Amino acid sequence: METTLEAPTRQTKPLPAAEQDFLPLQGTDYVEFYVGNAKQAAHYYKTAFGFQSLAYSGPETGVRDRASYAIRQNKLTFVLTTPLRRDNPIADHIYKHGDGVKALALRVADATSAWQETTKRGGKSYLEPMTVSDEYGEVVLSGIHTYGDTVHLFVERENYRGAFMPGFRKWETDYNPPSTGLLYVDHCVGNVGWNQMNPWVKFYEDVMGFRNILSFDDNDISTEYSALMSKVMSNGNGYVKFPINEPAEGKKKSQVEEYLDFYNGEGVQHVAMATKDIVSTVSDLQQRGVEFLKVPSTYYADLIDRVGKIDEDIEPLERLGVLVDRDDEGYLLQIFTKPVEDRPTLFYEIIQRKGAKSFGKGNFKALFEAIEREQAERGNL
Ligand code: FE2
Repeated sequence: METTLEAPTRQTKPLPAAEQDFLPLQGTDYVEFYVGNAKQAAHYYKTAFGFQSLAYSGPETGVRDRASYAIRQNKLTFVLTTPLRRDNPIADHIYKHGDGVKALALRVADATSAWQETTKRGGKSYLEPMTVSDEYGEVVLSGIHTYGDTVHLFVERENYRGAFMPGFRKWETDYNPPSTGLLYVDHCVGNVGWNQMNPWVKFYEDVMGFRNILSFDDNDISTEYSALMSKVMSNGNGYVKFPINEPAEGKKKSQVEEYLDFYNGEGVQHVAMATKDIVSTVSDLQQRGVEFLKVPSTYYADLIDRVGKIDEDIEPLERLGVLVDRDDEGYLLQIFTKPVEDRPTLFYEIIQRKGAKSFGKGNFKALFEAIEREQAERGNL
């Protein structure tokens, strides 16, 4: 099936057969954000995205330097952390980057082994294995650095029955907006600097045992538009996928470069959250005030010609601005929010997969034109 960008996807070498996975991952455990005001951020994610209150940590629980709110929706867990004073790494992170993702925490059966296996392969330690415990059991945590000031934490929680983690207490509140049907983290995308994509691809291969499952170069992602290059890294079982973008030279300033300018370095560009019913989820999110990128209605005029027959009616997709793309295994529906802070940095993708395992390459052109319109409005093109 032809899509708007015809260049074939470059498939890279298959994983060597029966290779031992030295870093078995059970999925994303949580995403931690460092934010200027965690109380208000938690309210935003509950109100706008339908997360539920889960746990709280702060002075009332014996933590002196920060407050953290853990919120959850199905298998998605976010932690919003803010510093209570200046002159500490959390405050410095926000001063430099604005609100953003600090930690992509990954669930493992053995956080000590995860740290040992990755650091011995060249991973830079962020947190040596440590056990935290309370009356509900114990959690073992460890971590390594990745691009920019971002880190991967390894979370071993088989022996924990509490709400979230020792140091947190259950957060109960009367304000509980309903879920919007968001289910789990589908993938998390990192933006890295010029010529830094391949070194970070190698990091994920060598240090974490990931493999490159898809690549897009600047011929795929046209130089007419907000150009970038991207490689998708996946762990062995495919539960964890990290596409890595770097800017590419184009006629206009790359959207990745705009991000790097405003984030003051490399970091997480977007988190894709899965739903089983994108029309329902996105209708709900829009009513709750989440703002999405819109493509022109011409996108829908020849949609069926491009992607073939789909189960959904076109009308609600067009009304909401949901995009569709097909690969060899099926199709996917996706939509992107505008940045969720004043800096043009982090945004979200909502994705519904119907067989497709790819990332919507056929939508890049329409999408980048939409991003460019926004960049132009900000004076950053
Ligand atoms: Fe994505």
